[in-house]
Amino acid sequence: GSAPIVMQRNPMFSTINADDITKFKEILGEKNVVQDEEVLLAANTDWMQKYKGSSNLLLQPRTTEEVSQILKYCNSRCLAVVPQGGNTGLVGGSVPVFDEVIINMGSMKNIISFDKDETSKVKAFVPIQSGGRVIFRKTTRAKVIFRNEATVPSLDFGCFVSIRFVMPLDLGAKGSCQIGGNVSTNAGGLRFVRYGSLHGNVLGLEAVLANGTVLDMLGTLRKDNTGYDLKHLFIGSEGSLGIISKVSILTPPKLSSVNLAFLACKDYVSCQNLLLEAKRKLGNILSAFEFLDSHSMDLVLNHLEGVRNPLPPSMHNFYVLIETTGSDQSYDKEKLEAFLLRYMEVGLISDGVLAQDINQAFSFWRIREGVPEALMKAGAVYKYDLSLPIEKMYDLVEEMRMRLGPAAKVVGYGHLGDGNLHLNISLPEYDDTVLGQVEPFVYEWTSKHRGSISAEHGLGLMKANKIHYSKSTESVHLMVSIKKLLDPNGILNPYKVLPSSLTS
Ligand code: FAD
Ligand code: MLT
Ligand code: ZN
Repeated sequence: GSAPIVMQRNPMFSTINADDITKFKEILGEKNVVQDEEVLLAANTDWMQKYKGSSNLLLQPRTTEEVSQILKYCNSRCLAVVPQGGNTGLVGGSVPVFDEVIINMGSMKNIISFDKDETSKVKAFVPIQSGGRVIFRKTTRAKVIFRNEATVPSLDFGCFVSIRFVMPLDLGAKGSCQIGGNVSTNAGGLRFVRYGSLHGNVLGLEAVLANGTVLDMLGTLRKDNTGYDLKHLFIGSEGSLGIISKVSILTPPKLSSVNLAFLACKDYVSCQNLLLEAKRKLGNILSAFEFLDSHSMDLVLNHLEGVRNPLPPSMHNFYVLIETTGSDQSYDKEKLEAFLLRYMEVGLISDGVLAQDINQAFSFWRIREGVPEALMKAGAVYKYDLSLPIEKMYDLVEEMRMRLGPAAKVVGYGHLGDGNLHLNISLPEYDDTVLGQVEPFVYEWTSKHRGSISAEHGLGLMKANKIHYSKSTESVHLMVSIKKLLDPNGILNPYKVLPSSLTS
């Protein structure tokens, strides 16, 4: 069963009629106005199979102009819409709540241009493009402008851009998520500790407002202090302020030397101290610092095929992945090896292995990246994505475990290097009694420690009414004013992000 969120459809919104369908077919052509039941069932259901809408219509625009015409029309008719990328969101933001029209951005996936320091290797792009024109220019910085987003075709975002440059973002959903969805959620992911937030990496974007106005903010400059930097409003706004139709993003050079260690620690304090040391001693080659507890490891081993623990069975309570990325293979490897040896001697690391080749590195990442999938397979899951002071983070997991007793499995994993905990509660079926013990406790605890109730996933439908745990009343009111200014009829992703009581 799914977790019900009781709310009312906003009666201000119209329902689709035959004239609307005719109009959409005029704008998009027959085949991009989708009413097929199977397609709609998938598009109405989120990745976790927890949130289900009942939309009867999915639109597939191919150009900014088409997005603009659709939105202009929907706004004039007061038809609510949900922008949808790869539908991998984890907070119920990417699917309709009721009968909102789904605007699926999957057809807009061309690379418009790519600047780099040489003009060769054009072919590297061909297999991953769908007919887009690639324009090369001689510059020293690498940027890539995507006309909208592209499904990332392989394990490594780097392949997506070039064999010489990488995406500054990597996450477990890389096989399905889209750049537009990533920017709209301000996704964090596995390399945040190295490259930082998309607020720093996105150089410009184009967005279409609810009334169809196209906002061109597609600059590619590193520095530009002319007035308010409006693009930041759209980064992380989860489709509630506009539809992102183009993005320009910094793509750092792909470095040749990557090393990955899979380690075990006896307790959380050791993980925490190891992080401090890694930041100090590995410095600028540190590219990921991730952790999972033994409960997460058990889930992965029990539910994912072909996954095994690379360390001999023992009573390890925590596992840590440390990745370094640099430009000198022998120097970087020696540096990491010396680091690991030293902290094994002093006892911060209880056991560990260094990946010997790319396949082994992949198998280590599979363990960490496989936790959300394993949780899904295990049954129902309540997911919390929290920013917390690192020294307090795991206390919450332990308190929750005590609170719930044997009724549920409480697991903790996440982006330790960024102070981002994924607290997940796994149980055979959704259970309101358990939920009542978890919430509002988890939000109150986070708020008391001045953390954030959404570190990287967004608020979506799940936490729209919880925003006050992390934001002041004044801030929320200003957000509501901005929403009303940009989308006066509230047609863009209604019921999400902001409390419905303030927006409708
Ligand atoms: P969707 O899920 O389709 O949409 C997400 C939100 O963005 C919705 O509110 C939608 O309305 C809006 N939206 C989508 N496209 C547009 C657009 N073009 N214009 C305006 N609004 C739009 N997230 C992290 O931050 N870090 C992680 O490490 C991470 N790992 C994940 C691992 C797995 C296995 C899964 C399933 C998810 C993970 N996520 C993670 C969550 C999710 O992948 C990200 O939020 C991702 O950025 C969503 O992209 P998407 O294209 O799937 O967007
Ligand atoms: C992750 O880091 O694995 C993702 O954010 C997904 C999740 O939280 O389960
Ligand atoms: Zn995450």
